[in-house]
Amino acid sequence: MKVLTMSIDPKRRSNPPVPPAASALTWRTEMTVADLEGIRVLTREAGNFTTEEVDLAVELVDARLQFGAASGYQFLLAEQSDQVLAGYACFGPISATQQRYDLYWIAVAPAWQRRRLGSDLLHRVEQTMWDQGAQRIYIETSTLDSYSPAREFYVRSGYIDPIVVPDFYRDGDGKLIMVKIRPLRTTSGC
Ligand SMILES: CC(C)(COP(=O)(O)OP(=O)(O)OC[C@H]1O[C@@H](n2cnc3c(N)ncnc32)[C@H](O)[C@@H]1OP(=O)(O)O)[C@@H](O)C(=O)NCCC(=O)NCCS
Repeated sequence: MKVLTMSIDPKRRSNPPVPPAASALTWRTEMTVADLEGIRVLTREAGNFTTEEVDLAVELVDARLQFGAASGYQFLLAEQSDQVLAGYACFGPISATQQRYDLYWIAVAPAWQRRRLGSDLLHRVEQTMWDQGAQRIYIETSTLDSYSPAREFYVRSGYIDPIVVPDFYRDGDGKLIMVKIRPLRTTSGC
């Protein structure tokens, strides 16, 4: 494994949590059967994801629908008034760890990208994870050039300590892991 260095101004690390563009959206955590197709369309259109990854994203929805909370997968969906999904995140505790959580998936529809919806989604699910007792939140992404917006997004969102596992996904496509450690104060509670 090697450490990936990324140049970013530390003063620009964290994004403000309130995105003006997202005020037109409704938020929900309960999944419906229609989300199987909604998540398929969203992940297919968001960019970056392979057909296999889109299938995997849909499988996590299916697991949630079948097994509920026992699936270990939690969701937050941002929906337009016409019920088309603008973005979503999927996360949950990592089995056999102590209060370590994984952000399994985050995607924003092209029309909503770069309007702070991703930051808002991430901020909201992070808050849920801290509220559930998370001590560390991990993200995984690809080292491919096409994922550089995602890497920038995570750095800007305060994720640190990048580690690369070379050729993890396929030759020339490594896995990048980053972490956010529970802040001393989370914004929930008193
Ligand atoms: C990554 C993703 C979730 C970000 O969501 P978003 O709503 O577009 O991101 P935000 O508007 O909240 O951006 C926050 C910051 O992230 C960085 N960022 C986001 N998109 C970027 C891009 N295309 N290029 C460079 N930086 C980008 C910027 O620093 C941005 O802050 P700024 O706009 O003030 O410069 C979204 O682009 C997406 O769904 N991409 C396709 C799917 C994907 O790659 N998911 C992650 C898989 S690991």
